[in-house]
Amino acid sequence: MANRTYFIRTFGCQMNEHDSERAAGVLQSMGYRPAADPESAGLVLFNTCAIRENADNKLYGQLSHLKPLKLADPSKTIVVGGCLAQKDQQGLAERAPYVDVVYGTHNMGRLPELLAQADSAALPVVEILEHTEMFPSALPARREVAHHAWVSISIGCDNTCAFCIVPSLRGPEKSRKLGDVVAEVRDLVADGVTEVTLLGQNVNSYGRDLVRDGLVPSPDGRRNRTLFAELLHLLGDVDGLQRIRFTSPHPKDFTSDVFEAMRDIPSVCEQLHLPLQSGSDRILRRMQRSYRSRRFLDLVTEARETIPGLAISTDIIVGFPGETEDDFGETLTVTEQAAFDSAFTFKYSKRPGTTAVDLDGHVEPAVVDERFDRLAALTRRLSEASHARQVGTVAEVLFEGPSKTDATRTSGRTRHNRLVHVPSTAATAPGALANVRITEAAAHYLLGEVTDAPVTDPVGTPLPAQPLTA
Ligand code: 5AD
Ligand code: SF4
Repeated sequence: MANRTYFIRTFGCQMNEHDSERAAGVLQSMGYRPAADPESAGLVLFNTCAIRENADNKLYGQLSHLKPLKLADPSKTIVVGGCLAQKDQQGLAERAPYVDVVYGTHNMGRLPELLAQADSAALPVVEILEHTEMFPSALPARREVAHHAWVSISIGCDNTCAFCIVPSLRGPEKSRKLGDVVAEVRDLVADGVTEVTLLGQNVNSYGRDLVRDGLVPSPDGRRNRTLFAELLHLLGDVDGLQRIRFTSPHPKDFTSDVFEAMRDIPSVCEQLHLPLQSGSDRILRRMQRSYRSRRFLDLVTEARETIPGLAISTDIIVGFPGETEDDFGETLTVTEQAAFDSAFTFKYSKRPGTTAVDLDGHVEPAVVDERFDRLAALTRRLSEASHARQVGTVAEVLFEGPSKTDATRTSGRTRHNRLVHVPSTAATAPGALANVRITEAAAHYLLGEVTDAPVTDPVGTPLPAQPLTA
């Protein structure tokens, strides 16, 4: 009998984690069951990422590990989907001819047909579409965590950031209808979900295409709210939904109504991911990011003033073409001023087809490495300071499961998205909410213990008396 078990390896962002849950749902609806590892699985699916070059290398490395297994057992099925498949297309099948199916970012729903075709094909079946067939949320999902769900509110991206390959892989921005998002969230809550993360490449431009296409009235016909803020308010009214997060917004599209919604809606978490990318106005211009450092810092100030205790995370790229030591110094200054609670830092990676490839002034790798280390030291210091301020406070934690490094502990997240480990007790079952007194802080996690004490006021980053200056 055929081995109808599957194993999925996911690379990249939350959008991909969401897509993988959908791929798992599609496979389960075909009668597949999860396998413990790729070696024993009858079908291995790689859901790939193309954002930086090392994501490419990782995939090809892992595929070559599977090659001997596939040659020894030709009935094993290897599927590669997602962003890198969309980018490399037929080239992927040529580099790894032992792969059975290659699909892109727009056609995961076609997996059953593609697998059927592969059964009788000698060569890899490659199907890449240029446009979206449907929102991934329209497919069944097998959620990794019972109480948490990803919900895509838009797909694609209309921006033209010079470094970014995503618009060419995921297409133009397309928003889901407000009513469809709300209906999906209601169904998820009825199914036991208490926390959702709204996903989009640019969540706070949500609905702009719906207004443009005449599908919803323009903002002044709707109490002047952006559709994204409107969506938060509608989801805030869903009974039983405890936590709403969203990622990622773009600084240029931020409007005060979203900050006010975050303050006023109890279920919207006090956590914001606000990608800076660079603190130098000259580099931001070269990146085709239309805000400037002054505007970015004003947003940080407004956000922290409006939402008490807010935690802000960011993305920063080091070594974008043309970045001088002065430009980099400005990134350090703005990072320090913004006092990010956490930061994802990246070395610039050349992506084929993006406009940055043709810019002059590519920075020497040794210089990039050295700047990267200096930035990482700063962001680590900021994260440690942010965490140290939490020691002694009591925070609400939603538990996820056993700690990956210590089986006697359970891990969970605060509303501010801080990772907390506590000794496991009856109160720390996955999906449970409990109050936790924070006892110790490290750069990337907190330690604590469950307590009956009430939640204390969150300790945010103190705002300086003087306005922030870039
Ligand atoms: N090189 C390095 N980092 C990149 N990112 C996007 N494209 C690149 C690239 N070519 C980073 C950005 C983005 C995050 C998801 O990945 O910081 O916000
Ligand atoms: Fe996500 Fe972008 Fe990577 Fe695609 S390329 S998986 S959208 S980060």
